[in-house]
Amino acid sequence: MSKLNGKVAVVTGASKGIGAAIAKALAQDGAAVVVNYASSRAGADAVVAAIAAEGGRAIAVQADVSKAAQAQALVDAAVAEFGRLDVLVNNSGVYEFAPIGEVTEEHYRRLFDVNVLGVLLATQAATRHLGAGGSIINISSVAASVQPATTAVYTGTKGAVNAISGVLANELAPRGIRVNVVSPGYVVTEGTHTAGIVGSEMEAGMVAQTPLGRAGRPDDIAGLVAFLASDDARWVTGEEIGASGGVH
Ligand SMILES: NC(=O)c1ccc[n+]([C@@H]2O[C@H](COP(=O)([O-])OP(=O)(O)OC[C@H]3O[C@@H](n4cnc5c(N)ncnc54)[C@H](OP(=O)(O)O)[C@@H]3O)[C@@H](O)[C@H]2O)c1
Repeated sequence: MSKLNGKVAVVTGASKGIGAAIAKALAQDGAAVVVNYASSRAGADAVVAAIAAEGGRAIAVQADVSKAAQAQALVDAAVAEFGRLDVLVNNSGVYEFAPIGEVTEEHYRRLFDVNVLGVLLATQAATRHLGAGGSIINISSVAASVQPATTAVYTGTKGAVNAISGVLANELAPRGIRVNVVSPGYVVTEGTHTAGIVGSEMEAGMVAQTPLGRAGRPDDIAGLVAFLASDDARWVTGEEIGASGGVH
């Protein structure tokens, strides 16, 4: 397929999990991709190597998206290497859950810094380069609407992402830049392994509530993102679309 031929994309948090699958899918569809990572250099290099092995173009760029200068440097690296920027996928995210009695300022700041401030800063940086036809895709979560117990802070970050995305869809529409949200349901990733969700009661509950009857895989999310990045979605903006096996 070649629906992203000639386009250049930045995918934040693409060293593993959903972001890695998105980076590979965009490259398979013809985009040149900047594979961002915060700490997992080896993971990002492996994604770049997998893309190159299929004849695609990609580079790995380290940046903490919650720092303005690093978010700008990330986006600038795309333009320096590939000459333009067409697509930003704000995928970087951290999740930790805590009942309200255990919520701390540190927990709040860690999640809001990456999940919300990171989206704002990377988007601000990208809008300095994006032109008409540009596409921003923010990875939220069905948690924002399901609102599971013990996820007040995480779910709060994703509710904020949804609201911010709607505002930016309106704000950037006059420039021909689209902004959409993809909300995954539960997906087995390195992150859900590390968080202790894989094999837990919480996982069993989430799978039981999934109409299509299984946990999600990173690839289940990536195709929808590639569609929204492409000109096939030229009339789609300000939407939140679930990729959740039917969970709402
Ligand atoms: N997995 C699920 O069930 C699920 C469900 C709904 C929504 N989501 C959302 O989907 C996204 C990806 O989730 P995932 O499960 O694939 O996560 P993951 O496996 O934990 O990967 C997270 C990615 O984010 C990067 N990251 C973390 N902090 C960062 C920072 N400050 N700056 C730049 N990158 C940073 C990590 O980079 P390093 O590894 O280099 O540190 C990594 O590449 C998140 O936004 C998450 O909230 C996930």
